[in-house]
Amino acid sequence: MEALHPDVSEVVLSEQDIKDIVTRMGDAITADYKERNPLVVAVLKGAVVFTADIMRAIKCPIAVDFMAVSSYGDGVKSSGVVRIVKDLDTKIEGRDVLIVEDILDSGLTLSYLIRMLEARGANSVKVAAFLVKDVEGKKPAVHPEYVGAHVPDEFIVGYGLDFAERYRNLPYIGILKPEVYS
Ligand code: PRP
Repeated sequence: MEALHPDVSEVVLSEQDIKDIVTRMGDAITADYKERNPLVVAVLKGAVVFTADIMRAIKCPIAVDFMAVSSYGDGVKSSGVVRIVKDLDTKIEGRDVLIVEDILDSGLTLSYLIRMLEARGANSVKVAAFLVKDVEGKKPAVHPEYVGAHVPDEFIVGYGLDFAERYRNLPYIGILKPEVYS
């Protein structure tokens, strides 16, 4: 087994845990979407690793497209308004859209995206979130149809998730040591 990264204090999900979760989610999505040729929409950048895995775990026809969004400065996470940096190439009118996200925190990014894609005339817009962060006293603005795992309110990195663009390539989900980011 690979040695733990020195900046990581604890592994929350191992590579094997991730494989098992992705298989389970892929089976559920396959059962729900067969014959519907859904458009899987990945939100860059964090979701790219999960997307590569989940699209291969879905055993019915799908199409894939990508979006990149960014927050409007500091106040944006609270307002939930996001700027589209890269839009979809695909027309989504009448399509069944499945947004895949690496982590749901406040849910504001997703709730904005869902409203926007619905307004474009999608037949349905659902969410597969690999992780949902459990924050005491706070409920996310969105309830994903597919959830991989719940994680504690810690600084989580790996499997696409970064701190200052680092650690996205760790093959597991881990907790970043506080001395690294404080
Ligand atoms: C992260 C994550 C989600 C969003 C979740 O992206 O990938 O898109 O934050 O937060 P929310 O539920 O509070 O809206 P980030 O802005 O860090 O960009 P990245 O994916 O490029 O790392």
